[in-house]
Amino acid sequence: MVNIGYIVGSFAQDSINRKLAGVLVDQAPAHAELTEIDITALPIYDRHMDKDFPQVLRDFKDEVAQVDGLLIVSPEHNQSFPAAVKNAVDVLSRPPKQGQLAGLKLGIAGASPGRFGTINGQSQIRQFLPPLGVELMGRPLLAVHATAETFNDDGTADPQTTRRARAYVEAFTEFVQS
Ligand SMILES: Cc1cc2nc3c(=O)[nH]c(=O)nc-3n(C[C@H](O)[C@H](O)[C@H](O)COP(=O)(O)O)c2cc1C
Repeated sequence: MVNIGYIVGSFAQDSINRKLAGVLVDQAPAHAELTEIDITALPIYDRHMDKDFPQVLRDFKDEVAQVDGLLIVSPEHNQSFPAAVKNAVDVLSRPPKQGQLAGLKLGIAGASPGRFGTINGQSQIRQFLPPLGVELMGRPLLAVHATAETFNDDGTADPQTTRRARAYVEAFTEFVQS
């Protein structure tokens, strides 16, 4: 079994990115298990935590250390990634040389009502994460331009989004295994 963790970059109750994550969970191959790693309770990192991380951050770091790959499913805020995602990455990058990012297999996906989905936010994540040692899946991209018809109340999505989500999660599972 391939164990994939995912974080949702939106804390909104009706988040379309949480809906996209749900579709990815449903479309995952039988030999992959996707489990949420919750970031909603993480305090904002400061460098004094390096000596003694609060338990909630230690738990978060342990959860990430245990998965075979991590997916970030996130909106973009003002053409960039939300602060919650950056904070989670900052936590994982510390203390120097003892973080969880080196060698971590990572994928990025997102949905927004904007024309370009979350391409701008994703491209910024693509810039700063590889130098931190993550192994980032290059393609396929999953940047969903979400309309009122994209996600259904029962947790499913329209056929095109469903197909793209399945292709994405299949590719990511293969990437994690490679
Ligand atoms: C502070 C803020 C900034 C936003 N900036 C962008 C943006 O740059 N591009 C975009 O496509 N949508 C932007 N949006 C709209 C979000 O994509 C939209 O609210 C979306 O539903 C957020 O995802 P969520 O439902 O998972 O929270 C922004 C929303 C907020 C609250």
